[in-house]
Amino acid sequence: MTTITFIHSDNRSQSVEAADGDSLMLAALTHGVDGIVAECGGNAVCATCHVYVDEAWTAKLDPVSDDEDALLDGTAAERLPNSRLSCQIKVRPALAGLVVRIPDRQS
Ligand code: FES
Repeated sequence: MTTITFIHSDNRSQSVEAADGDSLMLAALTHGVDGIVAECGGNAVCATCHVYVDEAWTAKLDPVSDDEDALLDGTAAERLPNSRLSCQIKVRPALAGLVVRIPDRQS
């Protein structure tokens, strides 16, 4: 289990113990974290699992794939340099303490 902290658009903070190997999106849904819609169920076609990764963590993640990059251009909330799709981030022990912000809208 790896501790991940989600920060909501109203600044509420919610930390969860995520199962290693799950996506960040699945960890959010499993723990009832609001604001991650994930319409496509993690198949990388909807962009409704958008998060902003805390700058301290962006370099520790795998690079953005071409498919993810294309989808990030269609997010409902503004795309920022630290935007990622949470379904494309795999939880692992090296990410213990990861902090991500949830945008104010996903559609
Ligand atoms: S859940 Fe659809 S792109 Fe991530």
